[in-house]
Amino acid sequence: MKLITVRILFFFAVLQLFSCKQKEIDLLSFKTSVLQNESLSVDQKVEKLLDQMTLEEKIGQMNQYSGFWDFTGPAPKDGKAATKMENLKKGWVGSMLNVSGVKDVKAVQKIAIEESRLGIPLIIGFDVIHGYKTISPIPLAEAASWDLEAIKISAQVAAQEASAAGINWTFAPMVDISRDARWGRVMEGAGEDPYLGSKIAKARVSGFQGSDLSDPSTIAACAKHFAAYGFVEAGRDYNTADVGAATLNSIIMPPFKAAKDAGVKTFMNSFNDLNGIPATGDTYLQRTVLKENWNFDGFIVSDWGSISEMVTHGYARDDNHAAELAINAGSDMDMESHLYVTELASLVKQGKVDEAYIHDAASRIIKVKFELGLFDDPYKYCDEAREASVIGSEKNQSSVLDLAKKSIVLLKNQNNVLPLAKKGQKIAVIGALASDKTSPLGNWRLAADINSAVSLLEGLQAYSGNTITYAKGADVVIGKTGFVSELTINTTDTSGFKEAIMLAKKSDVVIMALGEHAMQSGEGRSRAYLGLPGVQQELLEAIFAVNKNIVLVLSNGRPLTIPWAAQNIPTILEGWHLGTQSGNALAQVLYGDYNPSGKLPMSFPRSVGQLPLYYNYKNTGRPSPVNPGQVFWTHYIDQKNTPQYPFGFGLSYTTFSYSKPMVFHTYSQDKQVTVSVKVTNTGKREGKETVQLYLRDLFASVIRPIRELKGFEQVVLEPGQTKEITFTLTDQELGFFNNQGIWLVEKGDFEVYVGGDSQTKNKTNFKL
Ligand code: BGC
Repeated sequence: MKLITVRILFFFAVLQLFSCKQKEIDLLSFKTSVLQNESLSVDQKVEKLLDQMTLEEKIGQMNQYSGFWDFTGPAPKDGKAATKMENLKKGWVGSMLNVSGVKDVKAVQKIAIEESRLGIPLIIGFDVIHGYKTISPIPLAEAASWDLEAIKISAQVAAQEASAAGINWTFAPMVDISRDARWGRVMEGAGEDPYLGSKIAKARVSGFQGSDLSDPSTIAACAKHFAAYGFVEAGRDYNTADVGAATLNSIIMPPFKAAKDAGVKTFMNSFNDLNGIPATGDTYLQRTVLKENWNFDGFIVSDWGSISEMVTHGYARDDNHAAELAINAGSDMDMESHLYVTELASLVKQGKVDEAYIHDAASRIIKVKFELGLFDDPYKYCDEAREASVIGSEKNQSSVLDLAKKSIVLLKNQNNVLPLAKKGQKIAVIGALASDKTSPLGNWRLAADINSAVSLLEGLQAYSGNTITYAKGADVVIGKTGFVSELTINTTDTSGFKEAIMLAKKSDVVIMALGEHAMQSGEGRSRAYLGLPGVQQELLEAIFAVNKNIVLVLSNGRPLTIPWAAQNIPTILEGWHLGTQSGNALAQVLYGDYNPSGKLPMSFPRSVGQLPLYYNYKNTGRPSPVNPGQVFWTHYIDQKNTPQYPFGFGLSYTTFSYSKPMVFHTYSQDKQVTVSVKVTNTGKREGKETVQLYLRDLFASVIRPIRELKGFEQVVLEPGQTKEITFTLTDQELGFFNNQGIWLVEKGDFEVYVGGDSQTKNKTNFKL
């Protein structure tokens, strides 16, 4: 009933507006014969609508503003907000970001619908990175689950909540591969591996978009940041990226291609320059690769202000030139540079920009709006009742809890300190992060309420059999609330050590919650030191001096360097930033109600000097010393080459054994190689293993890495149970890109490794 009323109102509003139009059209017939005509394809509808639009209105569709003002209050009077409002009314805004909640979205949409000449609905974007209000683990943690179905569900939950709050487009998934833990944005991605990253990209796109984009509980996804943002030099955010064809084709591009193949509706370009050209102005990336070679028919949004930043990069002469370069290179929508709307019309009139590019960009954007169903009902994502019932529902809580448990990685469990006994223990909980109810939400959780996470302490207190006592010991950062910069600065205050030491002395077990505050990772949070921030290392050593029975629970948005802890602390659990249900997930793992199954999606370095560090490196001509003591081989004189914890690594409370892999080679008949292995649970409790297959092509026309992940499967085994796992390798797994971007499968010798992490020695050979 309500929907019908809204539609009728919309219809009359548009009717009234069309009657004011200079070049009159018969709106009634336009609406019925075009916009709602089911026999016309979306492309035909888009074209017919574009026929009615002026150049400025088409450019308006390419303009995106951020909306931090009160749409329901009096109209903003000054500065950018006033211009934004004016342009909104003129139909010169195609999208808003950072407007959320039904009330605000409705208000802003109403202006676009009722006050602009053509009443074209806005597409409403938001950074729904790992949940909207009910927060999932940070994407890097989710990747540690290797559970594609759970990751898909997490994106689905995020889409349900965001769409219930009026949002219809998320700037996720971030699919940037990164090998450098200094880069703060590794928390937003799936880690270092293109194969795992591609599978996760697909899962997340399908989760957000579902099978029907016009369903009001799905939203358009955005693969970002195109491209090479994860390869910023020295891990410093926004820095330059200098990457050759081999790495670009084989490492960086695959997850983007997987997102495209999964039907992702939008891409976002990136802040960095790639080989001297800002990605936003890169024609090769946007027009040649994405739009031509890959046939991508959605649209590309610039990153925030990245069009105008091309002036600062030293690529564009001035703002006007930046707009020209960006559109000519294929950037369809301008996020917050405010340049398309001011510069493009005159650039077209001067013949510097082909109007066909404007037409194409506007049509791509309008098409997504049609697919979202916004032309049927611009308020379809604005249902207050749905907003109230969906957001934070019990179902959503239990789904983020499920993924949080699966994301935890057991790094060390000497003497089986874990799982903890459920009663009779005096447990000391130490560390500011243990009682923190906001930091576990991680970075990029814009809509979440502060203090809405279950803390580790609360999670532990839910188990009543032990005596749990807490001492903070030390803060991580100086800030408590408020200013974001305060949350990046480490504290030096050790005044709480004494109390914590006293407590540790009289306890059976000490759970130490240490690591990074959520705001120490994420955008603009690169780090040059990757140890425990602030005085936490000191605190850890001080406690260890009085009680060695320590379980170190790490919270972090990136791999850390923890050589001392890895050497001395008996038990280490990687707890990332696990989201709303963090404390419950950690407690269930600590008590053994969930047997940890996570595997690292990124190598943990021993020291920062090893970075960039990744498992799929090339052998080089000098991989090892010929004689002991020789120096002329690829190594450091003061550090090992190997990581502290390798990619794919993670322990369980049980153990697994693997048979030697067997190869069934039928390549000459059906271009397939199958590899099978038997996996046995050799421990005393049920457990889940992620069986990983790595391939090495021993010689090739472009050198292949010493191993590359080409398959994985998760298997749950009872104690003593064995299961056979079979992998099928086709040209897709056996081949590689040459430096011209051509996929080749070359005959020759291969090694295949199957095991529980990237350093497994369990291998066999075959010849292709
Ligand atoms: C980030 C993007 C994000 C955008 C909008 C930028 O600073 O790089 O990833 O989607 O802001 O919030």
